[in-house]
Amino acid sequence: MVTNYFENFLKKETLFKAENTLDINYIPDKLPHREKELSLLSQLFLSLITNPNSTSRKILITGNTGIGKTATVKIFGDMLHKVGQKREISIKYIHINCRKERTSYKVLINIVRDIQQDFPKRGYSPQDLLEFIIKSLQNEDMHVLLVLDELNYLIENDKDLIYSLTRIYDDSFNSPQRISLIGIVRDLSCLNNLDSSTISTLQNNIIKFNTYSIEQIFDILKYRIKLSLKSNSISDDVIKMLSEIS
Ligand SMILES: Nc1ncnc2c1ncn2[C@@H]1O[C@H](COP(=O)(O)OP(=O)(O)OP(=O)(O)O)[C@@H](O)[C@H]1O
Ligand SMILES: [Mg+2]
Repeated sequence: MVTNYFENFLKKETLFKAENTLDINYIPDKLPHREKELSLLSQLFLSLITNPNSTSRKILITGNTGIGKTATVKIFGDMLHKVGQKREISIKYIHINCRKERTSYKVLINIVRDIQQDFPKRGYSPQDLLEFIIKSLQNEDMHVLLVLDELNYLIENDKDLIYSLTRIYDDSFNSPQRISLIGIVRDLSCLNNLDSSTISTLQNNIIKFNTYSIEQIFDILKYRIKLSLKSNSISDDVIKMLSEIS
């Protein structure tokens, strides 16, 4: 009789407590050693709550790969949405990865469909879509925090959108400002491809995420292991060795 391998595996005791928490897209509740960055972001965006739609924030986040830029901003976007919701201030958080959506059209249609799910996918120019977004935000008295993650891909491929987004409210004196922007790039050199006025807007607020120290990686690994594995599955000595390797 053929062995049923499922039965064999099911008999073995697993080390995992919650295997899903190891998924690359899983965002943990806490991010040890990114509290300062979360606090700084909250300070920068506070006026969206204290004085809704009076300002449009534009922030650039930079730093090496794998150091929690995306995870921090996802937690922050959620925080901002919730603090608004509690006070009946409508703030939508939209996170777009520009490695996947590399053109102005693709980014904009994603925003439009987040605002109106049944919006037709074809037949509109980027300019039409941007106008639709601005009008909808006005009609619904809403602010959007737009995160353009891996923004360098959009800058390399299609600069128009970043140019328009940094200037949307330039001509409208005293009108509500309904779009804030966080761009995430590993390396600031991609900005050199932009015109000097866009560069200066984006360079006004740059938050540099520093690389973690070995001690910080130890704390982070320990926390993530506690979430995903049963207790005492891995000793501190092994975690220490893993921190040094990574
Ligand atoms: N402080 C932290 N605490 C817990 N987990 C963390 C922390 N920092 C990073 N991580 C985890 O490490 C992984 C990589 O983080 P993230 O994707 O945010 O990096 P990144 O800086 O956006 O990298 P990239 O530039 O490659 O996009 C994710 O699974 C994230 O949850
Ligand atoms: Mg990232």
